[in-house]
Amino acid sequence: MDYLQIEGNHNLSGSVTISGAKNAALPLIAMTILAKNSVLLGNLPNVVDVRVLIKLLVMLGANSIDKDKNTIEINTNDINNTKVVYDIVRKMRASILLLGPLLARFGKCQVSLPGGCAIGARPVDLHIKAMQNMGAKIQIKNGYINATAPKGLKGSNIIFDKITVTGTENVIMAATLAKGKTTIINPAKEPEVIQLCDVLKQNGVDISGQGSDEITIIGTDGELINIADISIIPDRIEAGTYLCAGAITNSTITIKNIIPKHLEAILNKLKEIGFNINIDKDSITIFKSKELNAFELTTSEYPGFPTDMQAQFMALATQCKGVSTIKERLFENRFMHVNELQRLGANISLLGNVANINGKTNLIGADVMATDLRASSALVLAGLVASGETKIHRIYHLDRGYEKIEDKLSKIGVHIKRFKNDRV
Ligand code: EPZ
Repeated sequence: MDYLQIEGNHNLSGSVTISGAKNAALPLIAMTILAKNSVLLGNLPNVVDVRVLIKLLVMLGANSIDKDKNTIEINTNDINNTKVVYDIVRKMRASILLLGPLLARFGKCQVSLPGGCAIGARPVDLHIKAMQNMGAKIQIKNGYINATAPKGLKGSNIIFDKITVTGTENVIMAATLAKGKTTIINPAKEPEVIQLCDVLKQNGVDISGQGSDEITIIGTDGELINIADISIIPDRIEAGTYLCAGAITNSTITIKNIIPKHLEAILNKLKEIGFNINIDKDSITIFKSKELNAFELTTSEYPGFPTDMQAQFMALATQCKGVSTIKERLFENRFMHVNELQRLGANISLLGNVANINGKTNLIGADVMATDLRASSALVLAGLVASGETKIHRIYHLDRGYEKIEDKLSKIGVHIKRFKNDRV
């Protein structure tokens, strides 16, 4: 399997251009099932998760044409199979996003249960309950969600006990073709959810309340929609990760092609640690700081501090003077990066879902193993400041959500190389 080798302790400089957001692209690709026309998706991140979901749609009978490496055109009118098989879902749990649109358009589908992953059990009970509320008959059998709605879905009041990003997106897509009004109480407010709503609204769907505590959708009663060209919003988590690359090496770097408002919680935390940040319309510069102060953070749903940045800030905390405290509220096992950071010399103690990180620690390069997407980016960040060489194994996790990471890091001065390791 491939691994990345990083030589630490090099100052960084220059700028990084941020790619489109993986977590905006995935629901928008699923949304093409609701379209009567061929949909053009631009600024698409060229990452594994996006390619897998497109491949899955093609397996179901859809047609896709690559216009360039970041632009694709998808037509779903030839879909003739609505079984989303385990072999794909196990690799990419966001395939659950096909449940709502397939059920809404075809009146039936079988979607493999995603099962857990490294960061937690990650049930989909809220997705299933919402579909049942909208009139679907659901049977869980042989590891599959067997859903039918032969007379179509009906608008309904959906109250989410817990905020769920893909659960909200599934209901938004299902409600779009349903008959009547759907109200979603306690929806997710992430920018990626808002772009899905904005795209539907811009193409004639009667949808309102995105970003608030209540979203309302008046369904088209089965009428497919015409979707104009889409440009995926920039990836706020990729942007936050590169800002942390500047922060952890105490360098001055600029990130371009972003929407600063989407990074508010991340920027506030960096300022609290001691960094000066210059914010322009679509770029941000982080400046080197005299001293990095320890901090406290608790992960929360948007607009709070994103759980997808928790691992990266834990790596940064190893370079901050004092004891930093990180509390992970959203996932029950999102500290897999702790053991690997400790292999590099980090001084971290865990108590339940709270990590205490004692800094500043001089990290020393070692072999480490990526366990999930964001944990792997935390190991890259730690490798930037560890003395000597750090080898990060199982970087297929990284390739799921970071486009051309070694090119982007090399461009700002990181000594990084990817090695193709023959299978042992
Ligand atoms: C989305 O996952 C993101 N993935 C995740 O990003 C992100 O970490 C997560 O939201 C939280 O922000 C995509 O958008 C593709 P949730 P999702 O449903 O939708 C519980 C990355 O790094 N829950 O908002 O699967 C769940 O267990 C990935 O790009 C239920 O209990 O997350 C968790 O504790 C990792 N029942 C909490 O809600 C359900 O039916 C939030 O999960 C659904 C969720």
